[in-house]
Amino acid sequence: MSREENGQEVIVCRCRDVTEREVKEAIAEGYDTMELLKRKTMIGTGTCGGRTCLPIVQWILARETGRKIEEIRLPRERSPIVPMPLKFAAGEKVGDME
Ligand code: FES
Repeated sequence: MSREENGQEVIVCRCRDVTEREVKEAIAEGYDTMELLKRKTMIGTGTCGGRTCLPIVQWILARETGRKIEEIRLPRERSPIVPMPLKFAAGEKVGDME
């Protein structure tokens, strides 16, 4: 008996609390690319940046659609809309910016 059949949810994205069931439902609704799944379920948008969940969801998508995992492209990475000074990323407070 699988965990799903046993009534247990399998978390695939711990940052956004997305379960395997939610991913599979989204795929069944037609969200059949990683980019679409990311928009639908928010996978890959947590603090880890998808390091944990994207490979897992990539594997689920391949399995559910019968495609090879090499055919499943990861979502695009987007850089910040507004350029930020490097000192901001280094941890200086906003009030220190000049
Ligand atoms: S586990 Fe999905 S974004 Fe971190």
